[in-house]
Amino acid sequence: MKFFVDTADIKDIKELNDLGLLDGVTTNPSLILKSGGKIADVTKQICDIVKGPVSAEVVATEYKDMMAEAKILAKIADNICIKVPLTLDGLRACRTIRTEMNRLVNVTLCFSANQALLAAKAGASFISPFVGRVDDTGANGMELIEEIRHIYDNYDFDTEILVASVRTVNHVKQAALIGADVVTAPAATLKALVKHPLTDKGLEQFLADWAKTGQKIG
Ligand code: E4P
Repeated sequence: MKFFVDTADIKDIKELNDLGLLDGVTTNPSLILKSGGKIADVTKQICDIVKGPVSAEVVATEYKDMMAEAKILAKIADNICIKVPLTLDGLRACRTIRTEMNRLVNVTLCFSANQALLAAKAGASFISPFVGRVDDTGANGMELIEEIRHIYDNYDFDTEILVASVRTVNHVKQAALIGADVVTAPAATLKALVKHPLTDKGLEQFLADWAKTGQKIG
């Protein structure tokens, strides 16, 4: 399973990249706003750090304008993955970006299995179902991931399921159990995966016993 971080925070991206845990980055207009920087500058800085796909989102809603923005974003770096919304214009742009620009496309704002089916048919590299926002409605975001996995496997679609709007470590575990290809999560959630109270307790005990031996390694 690949780990993407869902942020435009350069410090967090550097830290995770240095840990060797990062396969890519996803951004969106809200995350760019939070970063306080200009999309071209922030995204370029991210691409200089991370070798894997870095999703940068178009904000136009009409096909032609989306294509114009996609061309600008694509020039930022070779690893830019163009993010388009799950609308008819977005799906059309997805097909054109894949076939004519030969660039990766992440189809975002997916909330149903049928939407994911359409994105796969449009040749999307990634489909981003937003599990946290589905959970917010009282439905179960992980059921959506199961449905999409089932459909994609039925037809051997090679679109990767990129579980988005991840809020908890349990979302990550469930996504891995279902066989999703990628999760994108905030840096804090990715770092929280390492935590277990018995690891802390065990380490404390080992260090205390080691101190009693009076030995040093090396
Ligand atoms: C995905 O690419 C989105 O940027 C993101 O996961 C949305 O998450 P949110 O619901 O926490 O805003």
